[in-house]
Amino acid sequence: MSSDQDGVLRTSVATNGTNASTTKCTATVDERVEFAGIPLRNAVLTASGTFGYGTEFAPFLDLEKIGGFVAKSLTLEPRFGNPPPRIGETPSGMLNAISIENVGVRAFLEEKLPALPEGVVVIASAFGTAPEIYAELASQVSGHPRISGIEINASCPHVKSGGIEFGQDPKLLAELVATVRKATTGSLLVKLSPNVTRIADMAKVCEAEGADGISMINAVQAMEVDVETRRPILSNILGGLSGPAIRPIALRMVWQAAQAVKIPICGVGGISSAEDAVKFMLCGASAIQVGTANYLDPGVAGRIAEGLANYAARHGFARVADLTGALETG
Ligand SMILES: Cc1cc2nc3c(=O)[nH]c(=O)nc-3n(C[C@H](O)[C@H](O)[C@H](O)COP(=O)(O)O)c2cc1C
Repeated sequence: MSSDQDGVLRTSVATNGTNASTTKCTATVDERVEFAGIPLRNAVLTASGTFGYGTEFAPFLDLEKIGGFVAKSLTLEPRFGNPPPRIGETPSGMLNAISIENVGVRAFLEEKLPALPEGVVVIASAFGTAPEIYAELASQVSGHPRISGIEINASCPHVKSGGIEFGQDPKLLAELVATVRKATTGSLLVKLSPNVTRIADMAKVCEAEGADGISMINAVQAMEVDVETRRPILSNILGGLSGPAIRPIALRMVWQAAQAVKIPICGVGGISSAEDAVKFMLCGASAIQVGTANYLDPGVAGRIAEGLANYAARHGFARVADLTGALETG
């Protein structure tokens, strides 16, 4: 399989099944997608907080094989997050309460971005405790030639104030999105929380207030207990559940949001294979993000991009973008 510079993939695929060695044909699939005004080489991004600032993954994955990445959420000043233990394993997933440990926006712009190879699509992520702080972050990063868009983290499930508060209250969310919208003309994505009753309502708020796209979902608020110590496994008590355990929840929410809004959706939550990525696109996602799976296999996002194109070819789609919303429900 080979992918040329402009994102058109030529591949040998089986037309009558998954075994490429039996019946082969040469198919051409256009892998490119445009997400919220950002042209992407392919539909696969990596999720904020699971891919550092990109350079950490460069030894394991050619960053140009993926559509781009969403960097760790930034705050105005560097932040150390919660004390350990702040990460734990659960059946088919992980629980974390890192609480936005990050280098701060200045070090990101001055040290982290210049260390990345040219041509890598970077989406910055912002976190704050008030709409004005998110807006300040947005104005500091937007217009930077290396940054293609900003994702506002309205959904962190384990920070004492900020994040999830915005993602759970439609009025606060509206105020947040409207305030950040005024601060940037660049591509504005809102990362939604799954910890709500009606996700479609939150998606509609983002659309009404001028967001260009939605990323969903952030981790599901959860907790776990160690019965030997009779203590929660995390010092913060509550954490965010991620990984395959949450994938069907994320899929359901993407589907519901896609029915409710016209702005594009980036599907996130438990994606660890091309097949998972296809499911999100069929349910209405225009692009996807790989999160927890990067910890198990730092090269997985590149293979998911290849597998997505292979699936499209095998099923007669000329463009990966045509998978969006192609779910048969009748
Ligand atoms: C260790 C860890 C740190 C995370 N940090 C952030 C963050 O800084 N900002 C953010 O928006 N999401 C953060 N997330 C959430 C992920 O981006 C993603 O939305 C979530 O984990 C669900 O996707 P997954 O199941 O593929 O991991 C973090 C997740 C994990 C596991």
